Amino acid sequence: MSSTSRNPLPPKVKAEVTAILLPLVYSGIDLKNETKLAHWNLRDANFIAVHRLLDEVVSAVDEGTDQIAERIRQLGAPIDATSEKVFSSSGLKDFPKGIVNSKQAIEAITNALAQVIQNLHDGIDKIDEAGDAITADILTQISGKLELQLWFLESHL
Ligand SMILES: [Fe+2]
Repeated sequence: MSSTSRNPLPPKVKAEVTAILLPLVYSGIDLKNETKLAHWNLRDANFIAVHRLLDEVVSAVDEGTDQIAERIRQLGAPIDATSEKVFSSSGLKDFPKGIVNSKQAIEAITNALAQVIQNLHDGIDKIDEAGDAITADILTQISGKLELQLWFLESHL
């Protein structure tokens, strides 16, 4: 199958940007999985509010990850995000095993989300320097949405 992309960015920029975006897909998939674990394994007096909030985080993370993966495809490369690749390369700490209370769940997801946002910020700077303003803008939009969720979460701590 052809991986030709008619997107006018120079091939060197496409390759450089793709290499920055792929790890963001891995960490996004892992963060979504961890946030689902938090959503499912939560047990606390304020269960329902936190359970629902965690699913809003899942939606924001999932949407952002989808946008990043589709940007990679626009630049021509395939998405190499097998489960094995995701869990060996995401760089996020594992979510605690077993049942968790609200504080444990929110602390773990807040830390993982902050790490993902930091990775996005680093990516924005590098992609700007590489000369792809469109991808930098896409990541900026995603980061803004995730930073809102970060505020929702950490306001519980
Ligand atoms: Fe659910």
